[in-house]
Amino acid sequence: MLRNAFLTALFIHGLVVNAASSSSSSEEDDGSSEHENEEHKKAHSHHWGYTDQLSWGSVFNDCNGQSQSPIDINTNTAIYDAQLPSIKLAGYDLTDNTALTLLNNGHTLQLSLPGSMRVVSGFDRIYHAAQLHFHWGSVEEPGSEHTIDNVHFPAEIHVVHYNSKYANLSEAATKEDGLAVLGAFIGIGLHENENYEKILSALTDVSLEETKTEIPGFNVRHLLPNSLERFYRYTGSLTTPPCFQTVNWTMFNDTITVSRKQLAALEDTLKMEQNQLLSKNFRAPQLLHGRRVVSSFSASPEPQGPKIIPLTEAGPGTRVRASTGAGLAGLSRGDILAIAFGALFAVTLLAFSTYAYQQRKKYSKFKKDSRQNVIYKPATKEEA
Ligand SMILES: *[C@@H]1O[C@H](CO)[C@@H](O)[C@H](O)[C@H]1NC(C)=O
Ligand SMILES: *[C@@H]1O[C@H](CO)[C@@H](O)[C@H](O)[C@H]1NC(C)=O
Ligand SMILES: *[C@@H]1O[C@H](CO)[C@@H](O)[C@H](O)[C@H]1NC(C)=O
Ligand SMILES: [Zn+2]
Repeated sequence: MLRNAFLTALFIHGLVVNAASSSSSSEEDDGSSEHENEEHKKAHSHHWGYTDQLSWGSVFNDCNGQSQSPIDINTNTAIYDAQLPSIKLAGYDLTDNTALTLLNNGHTLQLSLPGSMRVVSGFDRIYHAAQLHFHWGSVEEPGSEHTIDNVHFPAEIHVVHYNSKYANLSEAATKEDGLAVLGAFIGIGLHENENYEKILSALTDVSLEETKTEIPGFNVRHLLPNSLERFYRYTGSLTTPPCFQTVNWTMFNDTITVSRKQLAALEDTLKMEQNQLLSKNFRAPQLLHGRRVVSSFSASPEPQGPKIIPLTEAGPGTRVRASTGAGLAGLSRGDILAIAFGALFAVTLLAFSTYAYQQRKKYSKFKKDSRQNVIYKPATKEEA
């Protein structure tokens, strides 16, 4: 029976190894299918895709620029800037008689927003909202665009605003002070996010490329993290062609969570050209080229051990909730797989040692009783 347990453990182990290696080889396929993409690109030269992001610059010059987005945010080198004005939003609480257009544009899921939604504090001018959209990965791969200390989150939301001194988004997009994007990381939580459901429940209506639907207005503020106080700021670009370097970026430190099921719906419903799944629509982090990332908060290390919390500070519950959220969200699928491996290996090792110990005990017992010596067979023979 013990031997059976051991063999079963080995078998499961083998299955997991196979699954893992086949999933990593399918990632390599992305590279080898470049040939196909090349041909496709020739046929539709204005088209671009995420599998050929290294060649965006050959058609869209700005994509080769020195102030590109996204970037990796290194929390140790971000510089605290006490002067950064805090962000205040207005007009985000839309009533349900405002119809919002939800569009699958073949690159992302995009919700158009009325210009009455605006950022009224945080920048030198008021910025009007134009649209919001998402970036995500796949079941195997987290797909935020920005990374925190080189770690991806499962997904990311971008709320795009344009400077009120320009007539509209397209006019502002080419101006140095044209755009302000508010971005936030989306992780996995235990509960369904009702606010995200207002968009995600309409996913199946826009599953085909270039299809749209209308959804009733709601409080768009609730798609952003609870706290907007802690954020990173840097100067960057659109993360899609034409990659204009006109974005004043804000990435919030507080994160959002959706349920695993909701994330899976986002990753698994939309189609792009040739009816392929629209997933992994994130650009790789770009070089900083000397740019600085500033933060609106000083990153004090997490409290170690007991600490007296001043009455004026937020209660300990808030801190625990926030850090648990980030911890869960920050756990990549790779980490989870690694933990699973570790556990399986431990089980295998335990089963094997127990089995070996049992055999040795049997062996020494047999050795003592010389009459039974003849029936002893080494276990390895039976297993071969
Ligand atoms: C971005 O916004 C900050 C805060 O208002 C401002 O100091 C900075 O000049 C802006 N950068 C650009 C490129 O507009
Ligand atoms: C944006 O504004 C410019 C300048 O006023 C105008 O020419 C253009 O048609 C507008 N574009 C859209 C999409 O409204
Ligand atoms: C938030 O800030 C803390 C402190 O620097 C950092 O450890 C954490 O990784 C940050 N998380 C995000 C999502 O920015
Ligand atoms: Zn984006």
